[in-house]
Amino acid sequence: MDEFIGAWVARHSATRDQLLPLLHAIQKEAGYIDDAWVPSVAKALNLSRADVHGVITFYHDYRRAPAGRHVVKLCRAESCQARGGAAIEAAVVRRLGVPLGQTRADGQVSLEPVYCLGLCAIGPNALVDGRPVARIDNAVLDRIAAEIAA
Ligand code: FES
Repeated sequence: MDEFIGAWVARHSATRDQLLPLLHAIQKEAGYIDDAWVPSVAKALNLSRADVHGVITFYHDYRRAPAGRHVVKLCRAESCQARGGAAIEAAVVRRLGVPLGQTRADGQVSLEPVYCLGLCAIGPNALVDGRPVARIDNAVLDRIAAEIAA
């Protein structure tokens, strides 16, 4: 990853305002940002390791480990909660066999929280591999589970 970081900084600039774009580029390239790459990022942008680590851990969209083959992002915000989100969350966790915030041991699916998808009136909602899925109930969950298993 050192080579990628060096080449990226050479094409852009080695200034602290480049931290977010560089982290996005690393995640796009590798699929996640390994903790072992933090010192190289910090050195390239003249930041402390704590600065870089703090940004990576603050933003939920930065991954610190590879995602599963499928990614389900379940909305946990207020409107979806008010529309039965807690029961759906329990059903999704049970059905997909993975706790929220984790990747299943077989690597088939990651289940992640997200906080509002802008579809509040038709919740509870999720993103399945980037595609919005609304009004999640047991029938919709059956379709999601089948898609994940395929
Ligand atoms: S609260 Fe779930 S989409 Fe807005």
